[in-house]
Amino acid sequence: MTNPASPKTYRVKSFGCQMNVYDGERMAELLAQQGIAPAPEGEEADLVVLNTCHIREKAAEKVYSDIGRLVKAGRAAGREPMIAVAGCVAQAEGEEIMARAPSVSMVVGPQAYHRLPDMIERASRGEHATDTDMPEDAKFAALPKRRKVGPSAFLTIQEGCDKFCTYCVVPYTRGAEISRPFSDLLREAETLVAAGAVEITLLGQNVNAWTGTDDAGRDIGFDGLVKAVAKLPELQRIRYTTSHPMDVTDGMIAMHGEVDKLMPYLHLPVQSGSNRVLKAMNRSHDAAGYLKLLDRFRAVRPDLALSGDFIVGFPGETEAEFAETLALVDAVKYAAAFSFKYSPRPGTPAASMDGQVAQEVMEDRLARLQASLNRDQLAFNQATVGRTCEVLVERKGKLPGQWLGKSPWLQSVWFAGDVVIGDIVRVELAEAGPNSLEGRLLERATA
Ligand code: SAH
Ligand code: SF4
Ligand code: F3S
Repeated sequence: MTNPASPKTYRVKSFGCQMNVYDGERMAELLAQQGIAPAPEGEEADLVVLNTCHIREKAAEKVYSDIGRLVKAGRAAGREPMIAVAGCVAQAEGEEIMARAPSVSMVVGPQAYHRLPDMIERASRGEHATDTDMPEDAKFAALPKRRKVGPSAFLTIQEGCDKFCTYCVVPYTRGAEISRPFSDLLREAETLVAAGAVEITLLGQNVNAWTGTDDAGRDIGFDGLVKAVAKLPELQRIRYTTSHPMDVTDGMIAMHGEVDKLMPYLHLPVQSGSNRVLKAMNRSHDAAGYLKLLDRFRAVRPDLALSGDFIVGFPGETEAEFAETLALVDAVKYAAAFSFKYSPRPGTPAASMDGQVAQEVMEDRLARLQASLNRDQLAFNQATVGRTCEVLVERKGKLPGQWLGKSPWLQSVWFAGDVVIGDIVRVELAEAGPNSLEGRLLERATA
């Protein structure tokens, strides 16, 4: 039983953040360009790309068990798939994967996946290959033009991280911060719109660290880029994620009051409400500074929906320090949030810090934090009931005639009516649940 000589079908499975999903889409486009077709739903693919994430524990274990499952299913079908491990686990543990999992023929890091076609050719000849180079900006130039996307598309504008929060693997798996050039981004945004996007989410590990030079040769920052993208006539909505408090500028705050297409939503992670913990995390901001920033954003855009990331049980975190996180949450009233138990990552400074917190303590704190966050999310949704807003139709719902879309505040809204995917319609928000709202279709805003 051998690998298929040269794969005819592929499947890309993405496990990580939005940038990981974006990378997965780009890899799929690259494979399609090579004449490899997406495997039909429910069928085994000749080539499987596991696009992995390394941010929290058990990432590597999950990859090995996925590989085992693929090999077993392949054997049962009489033909093992060609397996590529991509993404951040590939970057961090490439050599080990190759040594431990002989059924993997390719390991490719997040900055090297444009070289997949060449690696597939070598794998077809039975050669295994690892590529975890980080060539500066070579990847995007080598990727095919984007042809077909959904109404809401991702666009990576910045990659990598120089912040080195003491718990985090991203600076090691994604490398140093780089900004993609302005003209490349405008071109990609134009092709996304031509390919069907009405909303673009600008992506970066620290999206607001983006800097560049516009067509007139002027140095511009993230706000300049957002304003330039907003000028694309057919584009209706702009979002961005993830931003870092340290790179917030006056211009970035001001743009929320100036750019109509910019949606009223801000994901600005804080991680903890305790200044001691924030310092130990190397976050370069304190709790009060963070709250002040939010006030400034809210002053220019009072209906801004706020979202954040939290880590509970960072080494040394006391009950009193955790209570400061709860107090910060109470003060902010987030519309949405992501919260995690601290997970020691190999090679990061926090992994060897004293005072690692016991699992049951972390679980208890996470449950309490999530109870607060869920309460606020429901309250936010309830407060929007009765409002009329524009909803971007993203997909069909489960029932006939039912649709799912997003409000300006990134809420999922269900409604019934005669619409098509990609429409922006006016909807009255009628009933709120913790994770979605039911709406009543009023009229189509765009024809
Ligand atoms: N660049 C972004 C997000 C990076 S990862 C930022 O700085 O905001 C997304 C989230 O995962 C982080 O915000 C953090 O809350 C969480 N995270 C990162 N490393 C973690 C770890 N070792 N344990 C638990 N959560 C972690
Ligand atoms: Fe990780 Fe911190 Fe960089 Fe975010 S800013 S990617 S949490 S090191
Ligand atoms: Fe995961 Fe890498 Fe994204 S570790 S969160 S896939 S940057």
